[in-house]
Amino acid sequence: MAEDFTLQEVLSDADAYYAAGAARGAVELLLQGWEQFEAAGMDSAVEAVQLALARICHAYWVKRDFAAGAQITAMVVSAALARARRTVEPGFAAVYAQAVAATGTSPFPLRRIFRHQNLIRLFSRVCADVSGEVAECGCARGLSFMELCLSFRKDHPDWAGEGFHVFDSFQGLSEPGKKDLAFVASDADRAQTARNMLPGNFAVAFELVRENIHREFPRAELHPGWIPSAFPAVAGRSFSFVHLDVDLYQPTLDSLDYFFPRLAGGGAIVTDDYNWPGARAAFDEFCAAHGLQLQATDTSQAFVLKS
Ligand SMILES: C[S@@+](CC[C@H](N)C(=O)[O-])C[C@H]1O[C@@H](n2cnc3c(N)ncnc32)[C@H](O)[C@@H]1O
Repeated sequence: MAEDFTLQEVLSDADAYYAAGAARGAVELLLQGWEQFEAAGMDSAVEAVQLALARICHAYWVKRDFAAGAQITAMVVSAALARARRTVEPGFAAVYAQAVAATGTSPFPLRRIFRHQNLIRLFSRVCADVSGEVAECGCARGLSFMELCLSFRKDHPDWAGEGFHVFDSFQGLSEPGKKDLAFVASDADRAQTARNMLPGNFAVAFELVRENIHREFPRAELHPGWIPSAFPAVAGRSFSFVHLDVDLYQPTLDSLDYFFPRLAGGGAIVTDDYNWPGARAAFDEFCAAHGLQLQATDTSQAFVLKS
C-alpha cells in the first residue's frame, strides 16, 4: 500500500470489491492490509483480516462454486505461507485448498496445514504398501477426511469412496473427564485447548457433512453416533489406516481399543491430538499396555504402526 489504511477502510474496501464481483481484488487488498498491520504489530487487525479472507473463501462454498473456491483458497493459503516464510509440497497445497473449499472450512489457523501434510504423507506411505479399509474418528466438516479421499483418488481415478468410513457424533465433543483437564506446564496451547474443550464444540450437522463428502465420494460411509456405539457397523473389516481426531481421552482410547486389533500388518493409527492431555494419555496408556512404540511428530500428532 502506498499509504497506511485503517482496518475499517481495508475491510469496507474489500467488501465493496467483493460485492462488485472482484473477489481477487478483495483478497489482494486484504493481503496488503495484513502486511501493513503485521508490520505495525496490530495482532487483532491481522485476525480481523484473516476472518475476512476466510469469509470470502466460505462464500464460494455457500454458492457451491467449489472450483473457484479452491482457486481463491489456494491464493489465500499461498500468501499466508509466504507471510510465514514456510512452504508445503505443491501437490499437498492443491489437495488442501480443494478440501478446504469442498468442506467450507476456514483456511486458518495456518498451522493446521503442516499437521495435515504430515497426516497425508504417512497415509500415502502406508496405503502404498498395505491394503485394507480406512477410517476417521472425528470429522467436523470433513476436511481431513476429504484430504485422505482426494489423495487416495490421485492413484485410483475411478474410486468413489468405497471402504472409507467416518465416525462422528455430529453433536461435537463429549464431556471432558479428569484426564482431559490434566494439563502440564509444557502444554504451550493450554489456554486455547481448554477453551476448545467444551461439550458440543465442533458440532456440525450430519446432513451438511454427508453432502460435503458424498458430492465427491458417494460411496464413502458415514456412521453417526457417540464413539464407540457405531463401531459394530464395520465389524469383520480390516483397516490399513485410521485417523483419530476426537480430542478427548475416552473416545481416543475406545477407538484404539476397537481399531488396533483390526489393523492390518504395516497399518497405522494416528492421532491429531497428541497436544491434548486426554488424547495424549489415551495414546500413551494404550501403547504402554500393549508394548507398542509410538512416534510423535513435531506437529503435535502421534502414530503407531502395527508390525
Ligand atoms: C476437532 S474435530 C475433528 C476435525 C476434523 N478431523 C478436521 O479435519 O476438520 C473433533 C470431532 O470429533 C467429534 N467427537 C468428539 N468426541 C466424540 C465422541 N465421543 N464420539 C463421536 N464423535 C466425537 C466431534 O463431533 C468433532 O466433529
